[in-house]
Amino acid sequence: MLLTSQKTMTSLSAPAQEPDAQGREWWRSAVIYQVYPRSFADANGDGLGDLPGVTAHLPELQRLGVDAIWLSPFFTSPQRDAGYDVADYCQVDPAFGTLDDFERMQWRAHELGMRVIVDIVPNHTSSDHAWFQAALASAPGSVEREHYLFRDGQGDEGQLPPNNWESVFGGSAWTRVTEPDGTPGQWYLHLFDSSQPDLNWQDEWVREQFRGVLRFWLDRGVDGFRVDVAHGMIKAPGLPDYTPPAEGGSMGGGAPSDGALDGMQPAAEAEPPTAPYWAQEGVHDIYRDWHRILDEYEGDRVLVAEAWVEPMSKLAKWVRSDEMNQAFNFAYLEMPWQASALRGVIDTSLAAFGSVGAPSTWVLSNHDVVRHATRLALTFDNPQGHGIGPNMPVRPDAELGLRRARAATALMLSLPGSSYLFQGEELGLPEVIDLPDDARQDPTWTRTNGERYGRDGCRVPLPWRAASPAFGFNSTGESWLPQPADWARYARDAQEGDPASTLALYTRLLAERKAHGLGLGEVRWLDGYPEQVVALRNGDVTVIANTGSTSVELGDGEVLLASGPLDGRLLPADTTVWLA
Ligand code: NOJ
Repeated sequence: MLLTSQKTMTSLSAPAQEPDAQGREWWRSAVIYQVYPRSFADANGDGLGDLPGVTAHLPELQRLGVDAIWLSPFFTSPQRDAGYDVADYCQVDPAFGTLDDFERMQWRAHELGMRVIVDIVPNHTSSDHAWFQAALASAPGSVEREHYLFRDGQGDEGQLPPNNWESVFGGSAWTRVTEPDGTPGQWYLHLFDSSQPDLNWQDEWVREQFRGVLRFWLDRGVDGFRVDVAHGMIKAPGLPDYTPPAEGGSMGGGAPSDGALDGMQPAAEAEPPTAPYWAQEGVHDIYRDWHRILDEYEGDRVLVAEAWVEPMSKLAKWVRSDEMNQAFNFAYLEMPWQASALRGVIDTSLAAFGSVGAPSTWVLSNHDVVRHATRLALTFDNPQGHGIGPNMPVRPDAELGLRRARAATALMLSLPGSSYLFQGEELGLPEVIDLPDDARQDPTWTRTNGERYGRDGCRVPLPWRAASPAFGFNSTGESWLPQPADWARYARDAQEGDPASTLALYTRLLAERKAHGLGLGEVRWLDGYPEQVVALRNGDVTVIANTGSTSVELGDGEVLLASGPLDGRLLPADTTVWLA
């Protein structure tokens, strides 16, 4: 189709607010890189990444051009859910290093101009936590039990769980304890693994403990917190039975999570029924309280919600001006590579977050979902959080997946607001499908008896050097999850200096995004392009993403960058271009 050069612009987004000269509200436009410490870099060679490993590789992240890093939990933990089962919120797990290692890492990141966000896990503790151990050792009705959600069972002997709730990881959300006198006793609630008992956030003592945890890390100079399960901490009174509508297994919350990759429509604004354990109004008081605590500190810090809440207009409540600053945009992550769906979710996001004065965020991959270099080539439904494995019907086409992933990232990084990157996506890493069963560690795998593969496939340790043991993850060749033999081709050193590499593309995208101020810009839709195209203008940059299967004409403008090879003035399928 031939395009004229008079394209029109429609549909304005809410303009982002300018940060002031001191860098206040830096997070409005930041690109934040998720470090998953156990898989990033392993300095002591035991096969599990650690904080000294992070410190050693910070210069590479600075060269990539990110503004901040967010570290998944590195706190004391038995690691039954990869550290999202915290046994001491104010200590570093020896497997990851020491508090001094944290401070060195943070000092170095700040020296290199990058902010540091840590992960706080308030919905549940580890069952190893001293608070839970004290609750187990105490009698029903005791103050210690009040810190968690203990209930008597149903049935004559209390032998049935208190209600019908199911764990996000599969199976019942309740486990029965043996009382200190040896008799079968009460049940405790765990929305995730049985090793992750839910805290009772109606209990003021619990609130006070977490104020202390926030201050502990704020006193050490962190730049913010990513808040785990930020939609789950308050449960409906009486804990009523609830059967969720069939859904696809996101990290909880009834997101439209079947990853349905074709024909999925923009996030509908109809409000689905609210589960009695998600998105209860009471959570907002907690975040107002936390907001005030962050305000006590000099400088500018961010609270980002991991909240699987829909519709987006409801999620926006988490980022009202006196609550959190950002919420992950999982609706965006779950969109197929399809122009109308993408336009829809971008519009919905900018409108919903803009209505409360918050920036939108954008994200395509994290440690809980199938990596987007694989996900965008799936031809079958794959519920997020369920993972994919060797027995799935069709192998996704790796080349197609990477081409789409590069194009999708080039579109995402052109949008105003804040973007989250997951370690390894800058190398184009795919999901690892062929993990041996006995290597899998996600509790989802065991709790569903192998029915769901879980999330290990996106968590495989990073390849740094093509010709080194464990591809440079460490020097011993140990790796807590096996790396595929062909990962030398994704290694960072194999990509450095190659202008066609995914690493070069990400580096260029981040540099041009900054140079053109896109993070603080606004979206204007361009008309006159074929339906399969997302075409927008942000500042002085025109962005054209071709999600279709045929080439389209580029129109006017000098090519600033492209996610893949162009065909003269034609934009091939699954390619995004930035024109200036
Ligand atoms: C969300 C985290 O991202 C996920 O990895 C974890 O398993 C659950 N919350 C429970 O903490």
